[in-house]
Amino acid sequence: MEIVSISNTDTATGRKMHEIEMPNFGLGVYLMGEPGECKAAVKHALEKGYRLIDTAMAYGNEDEVGQAIRESGIERKEIFVVTKLRQPHANSHEETLERCQQSLENLGLDYMDLYLVHAPPKELAARAPVWAGMEECLSKGWTRSIGVSNYGAHHLDAMVSYASLMPSVNQIEISPWLQRSALRAAISGIGAVPMAYSPLARGHKVEDPELGKIAKSLGCTPAQAAIKWCIDSGSITIPKSSNLSRIEENLGSLELDLSGTEAAFASLEESYVSGWDPTSEK
Ligand SMILES: NC(=O)c1ccc[n+]([C@@H]2O[C@H](COP(=O)([O-])OP(=O)(O)OC[C@H]3O[C@@H](n4cnc5c(N)ncnc54)[C@H](OP(=O)(O)O)[C@@H]3O)[C@@H](O)[C@H]2O)c1
Repeated sequence: MEIVSISNTDTATGRKMHEIEMPNFGLGVYLMGEPGECKAAVKHALEKGYRLIDTAMAYGNEDEVGQAIRESGIERKEIFVVTKLRQPHANSHEETLERCQQSLENLGLDYMDLYLVHAPPKELAARAPVWAGMEECLSKGWTRSIGVSNYGAHHLDAMVSYASLMPSVNQIEISPWLQRSALRAAISGIGAVPMAYSPLARGHKVEDPELGKIAKSLGCTPAQAAIKWCIDSGSITIPKSSNLSRIEENLGSLELDLSGTEAAFASLEESYVSGWDPTSEK
């Protein structure tokens, strides 16, 4: 697993601020709704070598993520924890601070590593104060870095007018079927790193016959090929699985060399959105 450097660029000076290191691969824990399911998955992933966990208050399992971390016996500083401010909670500076504290309580942690605005606040007037709240969470040490999720290029452009610090990360859906080269370039352009969610298109595309041919040529599973494509696109990638053997299979994607499959992957693009797509909202 590679470690990437992320930072919040100072909007006025262009200087990198709050530079920290982050693994480029981790476990997503969305839709782990059964009691104990998330805790078991996170514990297994940590035992097998995962060091990044992506949760959100909206997933209802921050508490199990925290329990798994404590029970893993791995030092807190070795694990990178990401959580998110829910879109319905992204209303004001004050509420942003309160929700960050609630997430820390749910996790049972003193700090998180990366706090993300889960999606652009619905109210345009709330975007600046919510981001100011995120900046305050960072300056108080409640989180080591701040970023956004589901922001389109126009949302990032608008931030230049109200942010003191630009986001370190924009977490968006990226997969071989939704490659998003223009948005990835816009993210790099503000000094941030793209983070790929739903790299398997929520499992909808694991049986794509064209992906199957690529995987066969590489001698790996289809899921492994798709995950490695996302990583090789320069994106921090967070496949979800609550199946213990698939958690290990997905980690195995890191060993792959995709050389020679570039054209085959390029032809998978079909602008396929597997869930929601707030990047195109106003
Ligand atoms: N910021 C956002 O708005 C946002 C939105 C969506 C997701 N996310 C984050 O990104 C993470 C990943 O995205 P996702 O959960 O939407 O979808 P995903 O990772 O693309 O796909 C997960 C689905 O694929 C299955 N799967 C996993 N590994 C597999 C394998 N090796 N072979 C076959 N099937 C496999 C899983 O089933 P099993 O569990 O049964 O293996 C599950 O049904 C989420 O968990 C969450 O942390 C963020």
